[in-house]
Amino acid sequence: MATRIFHMSDPHFGAENREALNIFADAVRHEGADALLCTGDLTQRATYPQFEAAARFFEQFDVPVVICAGNHDMPYYNMWERLVDPYRRYRMVQRGVADAFASDDVVLVPLVSTVPLQPRFPWVDGLVRRQALQSTLAQLRSLAQDPRLKLVFCHHPLLPAQDGQKNPTIGGDDAFAQLAKAGAQAVISGHVHIPFDQQRERGGRSLRMLGAGTLSTRLRGVPPSFQILTCEADAGIVAERRIIAP
Ligand SMILES: [Fe+2]
Repeated sequence: MATRIFHMSDPHFGAENREALNIFADAVRHEGADALLCTGDLTQRATYPQFEAAARFFEQFDVPVVICAGNHDMPYYNMWERLVDPYRRYRMVQRGVADAFASDDVVLVPLVSTVPLQPRFPWVDGLVRRQALQSTLAQLRSLAQDPRLKLVFCHHPLLPAQDGQKNPTIGGDDAFAQLAKAGAQAVISGHVHIPFDQQRERGGRSLRMLGAGTLSTRLRGVPPSFQILTCEADAGIVAERRIIAP
């Protein structure tokens, strides 16, 4: 039996798209979901009411919910809190959900691409710290003899939309190559609000990049979307994109 992971991203509670969220929730409930994955930007401005709304949304599901933080999930107005405890508010949601998921077919492995401070402004795009990458690589290496699919998830795509473009994610190229070398089959992310499914290459290693769009009203030229990843250990990943028609 395959494992079905329902992947959504960037709901931006506070600027969420209720209709799109309801369509996604119905799909999770009625279409054989084994897990829900949300790759960050749960909120628009990391306020308490926005995190409460996100927590209420994720609480409704009977399947494991796995999330990671996005750049919008750290305090935006309170710089002191952003520096000393950037994920304090995010933990309101984190407490109610799983921090990992594994089945007979697949293991989800987190990678942190969001940092509270970085050497450029604005602090929107990703940065993969050495320590964050080493943590993910250690998990992948511990699964080296494991026949299951290894899917890494993070908020920011590790590569630009096309080769030849400047990579907005600092450290992304190196992370991509090392994750591929360590045996990951795919890296799943959000952030750009546009869905994608690409087989890419860095350092002679190939890796699939899968992105959900957004379930918010912050559209960038394409409608809201999510994707269903059907994973089978010996058959790979079938990605089905669901575009929510306006
Ligand atoms: Fe983002």
